[in-house]
Amino acid sequence: MSSYSSGRQLGGIMGSSSIAEIPGILERAFALSKAGEGERVVLLSTHLYDELMAEAARIALNNLGADFVRVVLPPKADGMRPAQPLGAMALDVIKQAQMVIRIAPKGFHHPQTPDVPIYHPMFNEVFKAGTRWLDFMMDYPPIWRLFPTPELIERTNNGAARMEKAKVIRVTSEAGTDLTMRKDGRKGARQCGVVDEPGMWDNFGFGMVACAPLEDSANGILVISPGDRAGQLERLAVDTERIVMRFEAGRITSIDGGANAEVLRRHLTSFNNPDVYRIAHIGWGTHDRAIWGGPGFTIADWESYSGALTLHFGTNIFDTPARHTGLGGKVPAGTYHWGGGLLNHSFWLDDEQIVKDGKIVARDLR
Ligand SMILES: [Fe+2]
Repeated sequence: MSSYSSGRQLGGIMGSSSIAEIPGILERAFALSKAGEGERVVLLSTHLYDELMAEAARIALNNLGADFVRVVLPPKADGMRPAQPLGAMALDVIKQAQMVIRIAPKGFHHPQTPDVPIYHPMFNEVFKAGTRWLDFMMDYPPIWRLFPTPELIERTNNGAARMEKAKVIRVTSEAGTDLTMRKDGRKGARQCGVVDEPGMWDNFGFGMVACAPLEDSANGILVISPGDRAGQLERLAVDTERIVMRFEAGRITSIDGGANAEVLRRHLTSFNNPDVYRIAHIGWGTHDRAIWGGPGFTIADWESYSGALTLHFGTNIFDTPARHTGLGGKVPAGTYHWGGGLLNHSFWLDDEQIVKDGKIVARDLR
């Protein structure tokens, strides 16, 4: 497909998407990720998946002339919990592909939903041959709203390059956050919904710069304020109470506040694993069309909201051969991965302020 920035399409971006438009939108999205004529593509899902989205993806790939197969992974369980479903045969098929497009189940974020976890050694294995992987995990309405623009791609790539060079990260806020950590040698990772280089992974509709800090380096205080979406309370759109977390030598050592803090403390204690308190990745959102709160508020929004602090905890072993994809951390697979986004924070890389009170201020990263 040709340019996606014409006036006609911008009209579409301003509104939400109807089902009939989805194959055309996916065709443009896949073309951005170089899924063209003759490209070897696996259209992948677990046994539970968004059927209409998978159908739309099939139409899009066919229109693009891709050489593709549909792979549905079998259900796998470890006791009562869904387990990693990617078996040896599926892995063989995937390794023959130049690109994987993965359609997520509806309600993908529920912990009982089968998924293909990116924090698993087998996932890292997929990328070694240069396979590109694009996840689709959103419902129809936000697809057009969050479609990657050239400006989003540029500012996010610039941010990853800046993140790569930095050694020290500091975040602060008027509410009392003052947290410092090191990242010497760790990747600068980017997500902007496009996989156009070998070994890249991305998540359509997201916009974020991130990195895995050195696991024992975080010290200070993080303050979650009402209105943040720190991610630990699945049933609430946003946090309703102030929570204060203290960090020493890379781990959360205390969580203070009201009922929300009590729920979070008990939830994290239930894993009986000190690594659930370690920072997996930290960075800032880059998506200017992400929204905050309300009925259309998706995981892509709270992880991508422009200038918001994105902070997740737990496993971070995900890595690829692509320069700006993956984290390359040391918190092992199987460690609960959790977190969310915080508003009104300031973000420094070394001595340069990137975000001030929730607004990106670095000139080439806005
Ligand atoms: Fe994460």
